[in-house]
Amino acid sequence: MTGFLAFDDLTPNPIEVARQRRIARGGYIDLTSSNPTHHGHVFPAALLSQAADAYWVARRYEPDARGAPAARAAIAHYYAGRTPACSIPPAQIAITASTSEAYGLLLALLTDPGDNILTPAVSYPLLEYLAGIHRVELRPYALDERHGWQIDQASLRAQADGRTRLVLVISPHNPTGMVVRAALPALTALQLPVVCDEVFAEFGYSVDHVPPFAALHPELPVFMLNGISKMFALPDLKLGWIACNAPAHQQYGERLEILNDMYLSSSGLIQAMLPVIMRDGGAFIGQMRRHIRHNIRIALELLGTSHQITAQPPDGGYYLFPAIAGWPDEERLVLHLLEHGVLVHPGYFYSYDHGTHLMISCLVAESQLRAGLARLLGGIAHP
Ligand SMILES: Cc1ncc(COP(=O)(O)O)c(C=O)c1O
Repeated sequence: MTGFLAFDDLTPNPIEVARQRRIARGGYIDLTSSNPTHHGHVFPAALLSQAADAYWVARRYEPDARGAPAARAAIAHYYAGRTPACSIPPAQIAITASTSEAYGLLLALLTDPGDNILTPAVSYPLLEYLAGIHRVELRPYALDERHGWQIDQASLRAQADGRTRLVLVISPHNPTGMVVRAALPALTALQLPVVCDEVFAEFGYSVDHVPPFAALHPELPVFMLNGISKMFALPDLKLGWIACNAPAHQQYGERLEILNDMYLSSSGLIQAMLPVIMRDGGAFIGQMRRHIRHNIRIALELLGTSHQITAQPPDGGYYLFPAIAGWPDEERLVLHLLEHGVLVHPGYFYSYDHGTHLMISCLVAESQLRAGLARLLGGIAHP
């Protein structure tokens, strides 16, 4: 066999097998979900209809290799309003169908097969598949758990070699919640392009504002990724983007435009809707942010009642990634918790194998979160 995943074992892992069995026996509380539309975060329908109306009346196909100009202007306006403000002219933005697609375009743009890219460990699963498609190696750099999961700069420098083509940063990071708050001298020293995934940027917890990465490192080529999937809880409407700072645009803008022009995957409809969504969607973001912050507070309070659990308040994002004492085998713990009727992910799903960790999503309704965490606390205390 040749090609994508040709040598991988695709049989379901033991947690998935147990999950299916548990469904047959009456279900469980899911504390892993990252789908906002399953938990009452539904963007106002009236706003979406209003945003779509104008498109149907004056519909014409006007393809643009970087995406519809009015949508790019709305995105540029969004960066101007970030803290600190970030100037990204519309010409430096490419609209894609999602940030996942944006990752793929950037790997095609910046790497050749056999190259490597620096990625955080703790990681998230999409990256391995993307690396597989593009035949590049993921080189993990460490996040320092004892210091709020901040990027370990010595590790970053040690992992780079002559075939390293980019550094991937996720801020707020999934699932540790870490936010990069200041420039990192190690990145300046490496002089590599940085791709920064900021899909959780609107969901600060300990930090009030997530700085746009381009504002921290104006000297490096920086590609910031974001989209409506998390920001407005609209993953089904398919719009993401790549915002290039000046060095990234100067060095790579022309080739990125040709790459994006190959597919033009984001629909004309959602691009036409974006200016209204961005102009009027602020209240919805605020409501979702309050709900998530409230849930994180509750989860930290409940987890704090167990001496076996160390849960750090995240800088941002939806998730908690607590360390668990007394359970050396992560998989055994997750299977045991499933028996107690609650599903969480083990740290190894995120390529992290230092001690035992669980990934808990705080997106769910408060009642579900409380009930799920009660089961989790009971399960951890009773092996
Ligand atoms: C950190 C991070 N980036 C990107 C994505 C994917 O976003 P999109 O729906 O825009 O592809 C996810 C999805 O969970 C994510 O957690």
